[in-house]
Amino acid sequence: MPAAAALPDDLRERIDALAPWFHNMDLGSGRGAEMWTAPDHFLGNYPGFKFDRFAHALPADLVGKTVLDIGCNAGFYAMEMARRGAARVVGIDSDERYLDQGRLAAEALGFLGAIEFRKLDVYDVAALGERFDLVIFMGVFYHLRHPLLALDLIREHVAGDAMLFQTMQRGSEDVTPVPEDHPFHVPGTFDPSPIFDEQGYPKMHFVEREYSGDWTNWWAANRSGSEAMLRSAGFAIEARPEAEVYLCRVAPVPFAEYGMKAAVYPAGAAA
Ligand SMILES: C[S@@+](CC[C@H](N)C(=O)[O-])C[C@H]1O[C@@H](n2cnc3c(N)ncnc32)[C@H](O)[C@@H]1O
Repeated sequence: MPAAAALPDDLRERIDALAPWFHNMDLGSGRGAEMWTAPDHFLGNYPGFKFDRFAHALPADLVGKTVLDIGCNAGFYAMEMARRGAARVVGIDSDERYLDQGRLAAEALGFLGAIEFRKLDVYDVAALGERFDLVIFMGVFYHLRHPLLALDLIREHVAGDAMLFQTMQRGSEDVTPVPEDHPFHVPGTFDPSPIFDEQGYPKMHFVEREYSGDWTNWWAANRSGSEAMLRSAGFAIEARPEAEVYLCRVAPVPFAEYGMKAAVYPAGAAA
């Protein structure tokens, strides 16, 4: 925990100048002044109240560990990992405005030197040229046009051990065990296998227009689909501390021996 930093006199003005904020954080560290970044946030104390529900799934002590927070926004999770003692924390986001928010929050909370905020698209993670002990990939997957490509690139280039993952899920919570193979037809008929109609078969809904007023919401997988995609990208699910949130470990990439890795663009970027 850093020593309490001297609060900039103009902190409230600087917070307001960077509004709107998606991460609602108390930059005054509870020291009296009203220094929340988004006091009227529609989700209230977000993401603090959400983190409280799965914080226990991560090691309390990250001393000596490296962390990459992809789509870090204003750095709530990056700062929580620095608070746990991580040796190196890198937060990347494609939106410079959020990174400026992160820098201000880190300055006010005494983490400025502890976190490197960098403008980088998830599709360009190969440019980091480094694997991290913990990758945080929360709330980004469903905003991507090419989510599996992003997952493959993360596995290929930056995931060193663990990944904390969250995606928006819609549809059934059922999980149909995925068979090794599916017959093309129901044996003895020309009917397609009915397994595709099961609620628990891995599925992902495509949002053509907007969802909840946000045109960047492209995909909503069901639970089974989220879990199948993680496994198929080479992540073993270790825990599901709450709905939509998974703690994973890197695992062998299925079918890699047939050249799946070669299909990952731009796999060779860091070479
Ligand atoms: C819903 S917010 C999630 C923020 C944070 N990870 C969380 O869970 O609270 C999505 C974030 O991902 C970022 N983002 C969206 N597309 C991205 C991309 N292609 N590469 C990197 N960041 C991206 C957005 O700018 C935004 O900060």
